Amino acid sequence: MSEFSYKQIYKKYLEFFKDNGHTIIPSSPLVPENDPSVLFVNAGMFPLIPFLQGQKHPQGKRLVNIQRCIRTGDIDEVGDDYHCTAFIMLGNWSLNDYFKKEAINYTVQFFVEKLGLDINKIYASVFQGDENIPADEVSINVWKEIFAKYNIEAKVGKDEKIQQFGKKENWWGLESGGPCGPDSEIFYDTGKEKCSEECNISCNCGKYVEIGNNVFMEYFKQGNSVLPLGRHNVDFGGGLERIVALLQNVENVYDIDIYKPILQKVKELGKTDNEKSERIIVDHIKAATWIIMDGVQPSRSQQGYILRRLIRRAIRHGKKLGIEREFTREIADICITQFKDIWTNLEQQKEEILKTIEEEERKFNRTLEQGLRELEKRIKREEEINGKDAFLLYETYGLPLEVTEEILEEKNIKLQSRDLFFQAEKEHQEKSRTTSQGMFKAGLTDTSEMSTKYHTASHLLLAALRRVLGDHVYQKGSNITPERLRFDFPNETKLSPEQVKEVENLVNEQIKKKLEVSFEEVDKKKALELVPFAAFTEKYGDIVKLYYIGPKENPFSIEICNGPHVENIEKLGNFKIQKQENVGAGVKRIKAILE
Ligand code: SER
Repeated sequence: MSEFSYKQIYKKYLEFFKDNGHTIIPSSPLVPENDPSVLFVNAGMFPLIPFLQGQKHPQGKRLVNIQRCIRTGDIDEVGDDYHCTAFIMLGNWSLNDYFKKEAINYTVQFFVEKLGLDINKIYASVFQGDENIPADEVSINVWKEIFAKYNIEAKVGKDEKIQQFGKKENWWGLESGGPCGPDSEIFYDTGKEKCSEECNISCNCGKYVEIGNNVFMEYFKQGNSVLPLGRHNVDFGGGLERIVALLQNVENVYDIDIYKPILQKVKELGKTDNEKSERIIVDHIKAATWIIMDGVQPSRSQQGYILRRLIRRAIRHGKKLGIEREFTREIADICITQFKDIWTNLEQQKEEILKTIEEEERKFNRTLEQGLRELEKRIKREEEINGKDAFLLYETYGLPLEVTEEILEEKNIKLQSRDLFFQAEKEHQEKSRTTSQGMFKAGLTDTSEMSTKYHTASHLLLAALRRVLGDHVYQKGSNITPERLRFDFPNETKLSPEQVKEVENLVNEQIKKKLEVSFEEVDKKKALELVPFAAFTEKYGDIVKLYYIGPKENPFSIEICNGPHVENIEKLGNFKIQKQENVGAGVKRIKAILE
């Protein structure tokens, strides 16, 4: 294998796809522009969602880029061999252009012919199918043909070149919904021993490394339903750091060329060795420089809060390494030097970035001092200090457990019930996870009275549209706030002024009739007979809720839904269509209000 540098590798990638008709597009900023569903861009496809859904991309149907991404998951767990908070994703896309055959062939050509990976060590995973979506036989055949070209007879099955998995492994889409589909991942065998009998390419032990993923976006997820998208897109993504680690023959992503000088500096500053802490500092400070570059400042909420946690966690690990003086500025400076040719804004905003990080470190140090004083006070008062107290000191003042223990030890005091620290930490994490889920689902968890009304109004709108426009209409997307409803549906043209009136009148007539809303729980099969236009969905259990507006024998609307809804639609007031938009090929959007 040839030893290419980090920068050479991504340049080769862009070049290869450019030579194959792709336009190079820039990386988007880390903070999503119009989408509150995630805090940071976490995959190359994210900024392309409107285009995957059918909007025409000004740069064409074949695109390629490198996208800076942030994935925090549980920040407190980041720091193993293969995960980085901030990383670069290689991405190429076909917007309703080429599909499985070309996509997989391009991927293999790039890895084998351009980068020199050994085809004998390459494995593929494909979607095995489930009750709603068929197995991906096309990809299996494409892979077989590719291996055959290299005189390898590829079989499908456990331990074979091609392995099949279910949705967990071989399906990709954002939790919040949008374009999605089965995927086919490509793995490389590092030559390590298998960790167990069961070890296969999807195992995380490090024997097989995932180097890329082709997602075949033919579906669209809305709420719990998965519908055909009506387009065949390809979304390839590959984590640059992992690919580089493999090519440079190092065991973990932190040993690749671009990180070396940063890691070196951390080691120099530290008094003790602790691999994990060193890596966390490299990763988090690098992430902080990118995030600040994209306009975020440390704060108490949203992106700013994540940034603050990253910087503070790096500082805490600095303390673990015995670094006593301020150090983040120096590390950030090297991070900027390393990445400034890739993200040119790093250099332009260098001073501001360094100052922000340095100030946050000072602020945190002051808080830590308060925490120390609080601890001293308790020691003086001879209070018992247990794990839960240690957690509160950590939570409020950022005082790490180890520091608390050290101080107690110096005074020959024992920390009581140390386990309580971890218990409290766990409880806290669960709590913040639940809050952030609620916060970022945007709309879905909103059960305010107005949103409930708009939810019911959306059912009325769909029923009216089907009567006025025809049976091809179904819900392709919906978004509700307490101020309005937004509804996407397939239709070639916008509604004419007459049709708008007709739909509004139909809805308002029902409201005047004071129809009742009711539901029953029925067998999924029966529900789908009654509501053939409902999206079949893998996530509904066997029993689903059917919502009726009007008498059950002859309802104005019937839909599979989880609610909530008003009990009687008389409460809705007057329904008015405010706006119509085009949102993609053959998809129209209506915004409507209740007055
Ligand atoms: N979106 C897919 C992923 O993140 C492929 O780009 O793996």
